[in-house]
Amino acid sequence: MENFTFYSPTLFAFGKGTESDAGKYVKRFGGSKVLIHYGGGSVVRSGLLDRVKASLDKEGLPFIELGGVKPNPRSGLVYEGIEIGRKEGIDFIIAVGGGSVIDSSKAIAMGIPYDGDFWDFYQGKPVEKALPVGTVLTIAAAGSEGSPDSVITKEEGMFKRGAGSDLIRPKFSILNPELTQTLPPFQTASGATDIMAHLYERYLTNTKDVEVTDRLIEALLLTMKHETPRVIADPDNYEARANIMWAGMVAHNNTCGVGRSQDWNSHVIEHELSALYDCAHGAGLAVTMPAVFKYVMNHNVMRFAQVAVRVWGCQMDFEHPEVTALEGINAFQSFLCSIGMPKNFEELGAKQEDIPKLVDVLCHGDGRQGSISGFVTLNEEDCTKIYQMMI
Ligand code: NZQ
Ligand code: ZN
Repeated sequence: MENFTFYSPTLFAFGKGTESDAGKYVKRFGGSKVLIHYGGGSVVRSGLLDRVKASLDKEGLPFIELGGVKPNPRSGLVYEGIEIGRKEGIDFIIAVGGGSVIDSSKAIAMGIPYDGDFWDFYQGKPVEKALPVGTVLTIAAAGSEGSPDSVITKEEGMFKRGAGSDLIRPKFSILNPELTQTLPPFQTASGATDIMAHLYERYLTNTKDVEVTDRLIEALLLTMKHETPRVIADPDNYEARANIMWAGMVAHNNTCGVGRSQDWNSHVIEHELSALYDCAHGAGLAVTMPAVFKYVMNHNVMRFAQVAVRVWGCQMDFEHPEVTALEGINAFQSFLCSIGMPKNFEELGAKQEDIPKLVDVLCHGDGRQGSISGFVTLNEEDCTKIYQMMI
């Protein structure tokens, strides 16, 4: 295991009705004037926004609102949020929604106290200061409720890039599984796929002897394998929703990733798809992961065979471990299809003729140097072949 530090200071309030304590937590973490940030309207329709506002009123906390965050959140609204936040003197941001709303909130939180362009942080500039952020989560997916990351798309050039700092880990996150019961099945399945991707990206490591994190990842993958079909069949299954919601947090706050190298090639390859086609991130991952895994499998075939046996119930073929490895990848892809995820470019709405453009932005866009690296380093030719495998 490699040396590591792990700092995850988020307070989690989990369970039914917990959103009514939002105001209490804002106060506890020092907020006195709040920006409520939300998306395209699901939280208005469900009445959640009103409940959050009522909890702020109860604590005597003034607030302003900024809605309109789109999935795959854009820089334009972030600039607007920074300007409004400064003008109104807000000192706390509460994100009511999914990963997109949380990431947009984190970007505004970094941008308000910073003199330069907030995009600098998405090009690697270290964050020195950020306003505190709290979240009321409405979809189990991105894991941003516990993560130090934010992913934003810069409209100029449509670059989808991430920023990371412990300073943007939420101060608190309210996780009420009931709030996810209004999700359309496709969004539930996209979220589940993203959670499983966060587990696989950590499982694909070059660090030896990381049994504890391997076993945690396998336990979470098994949980997702068990619970996701139950929730697709019965969207009101609270217990299954609860397990998925907590799995989504544990999958991505890095409990499962400490002390080991991680991959993330599937994520960066997918981010070009959701940037160009505005598809759901999880749906893009469902098409991306099997192609990437098959392409890199021989780099460490036993790693793929291990997850095939321990999670997907495959029989180990000791003479031909590559057969077991491939069976595991195919079982994962069949599972994703069974929950309603797309399996190829066409089903995703992607186009073969765009591959050169996708590869160019992936390998050269916004300061990249011709390749991406993780479990293996992939150059332009590799990435072209991987996108072609998704056709
Ligand atoms: O905008 P509204 O109307 O709220 O609708 C949303 C949106 O259309 C809807 N939705 C959310 N909760 C709902 C609901 N509809 C009905 N009932 C509810 N309870 O679902 C749609 C998707 O929401 P979004 O926030 O985009 O989903 P998700 O949480 O999957 O976030 C995706 C974004 O997170 C990024 C992705 O790249 C993508 O931009 N990621 C962020 C990470 C991080 N910060 O750590 C890591 C991830 O790997 C990921 O890259
Ligand atoms: Zn993801």
